[in-house]
Amino acid sequence: MSEQFDFDRVIDRSGTASEKWDRYAGRDVIPLWVADMDFLSPPGVIAALYERIEHGVFGYTHPPQGLVEAVLEHLQRDFAWQVRPEWLVWLPGLVCGLNVLARAIGEPGDEVITFTPIYPPFMSAPTLNGRTTVRVPLILQGGRWVADLEALERAITPRTGMLLLCSPHNPVGRAWSREELQQFADLCERHDLIIGSDEIHAGLILDEGVQHIPIATLSAETARRTITLLAPSKTYNIPGLGCSFAVISDPALRQRFTRAAGRIVPHVNTLGYTAAEAAYRHGEEWRRQLLVYLRGNRDLVAAGIDAIPGLAMTHVEATYLAWIDARPAGIEQPGRFFEEAGVGLSDGADFDAPGFVRLNFGCSRSLLVEALQRMGRALP
Ligand SMILES: Cc1ncc(COP(=O)(O)O)c(C=O)c1O
Repeated sequence: MSEQFDFDRVIDRSGTASEKWDRYAGRDVIPLWVADMDFLSPPGVIAALYERIEHGVFGYTHPPQGLVEAVLEHLQRDFAWQVRPEWLVWLPGLVCGLNVLARAIGEPGDEVITFTPIYPPFMSAPTLNGRTTVRVPLILQGGRWVADLEALERAITPRTGMLLLCSPHNPVGRAWSREELQQFADLCERHDLIIGSDEIHAGLILDEGVQHIPIATLSAETARRTITLLAPSKTYNIPGLGCSFAVISDPALRQRFTRAAGRIVPHVNTLGYTAAEAAYRHGEEWRRQLLVYLRGNRDLVAAGIDAIPGLAMTHVEATYLAWIDARPAGIEQPGRFFEEAGVGLSDGADFDAPGFVRLNFGCSRSLLVEALQRMGRALP
């Protein structure tokens, strides 16, 4: 029988300089905001880190051959994606990757299109790098957030260089279907746009029978214009170890990306490489059980929010983030409102959607139950 992992176990994260927990240090506020989980990492990751630390020398490290092999095996096994070693470009973080991407594509003043609401660095990366961010709001259709393809088409101008996609999408929790991805790819081909696809949540598809589809796998033509950003950090709960990578099959595009990274982007840290390799090699059973636990948490959040008057949410297909509409409750700043009620959420205004909040359910069930009770008491 395989080992059972205990996601119910409550681990005290105080005193570990946790961003998530320290925001409310000394206050009775349950932190369900920034996207890390309160769970222990897979035992194989912890063991590999111990072993590496035992060696005691931590010099500059290039991507270990074993990691490259583990990544290629993972992409082949989980997504039927055949990737060559030279297509990988290593990065110390995906926000860094988004910024490099914005610098790499087009010229100053060119436009980058993204669907909103969106993880905030999608909006800041283009502007920080001399580009213009063009926001195309997702729309609710049949209780599901979808892209407005007509609005997307209208937003494209001669200055548009790239569609920046979040797949699965943070914060609305959509796992884009093959048909939707094909529509994005067709449109990018028609207008000769680069596709930047952040797929950091690819390992966190919650719906059974649904597969993550890397957009680059749709066709050779799509692959040629796509830069995919990936990391083990969200799936295996190792975001503090900073190890991510881009997959770029087209040599010219890859050169543009590595030139833009230049000497500014630092090495990936030694322990990040170690953890990433162990996660891909030994984390699968842990991930499988994690998904079962997260599914339970998701269903609990859905039922809890449904029972609170004035709040509404859509089904979370992927990620451990629930996107909650508080507008019917008529609350001006729902982030602050729920903080005062003892629950720390991310305010939708930061995602270009005031009136919403994002709830991170990557935590023990007991904590989640308490948080939902507090939210319910605040809106009787
Ligand atoms: C879509 C997306 N991209 C990137 C990141 C952050 O990546 P990193 O911590 O590697 O910079 C997050 C974190 O929540 C995310 O949701």
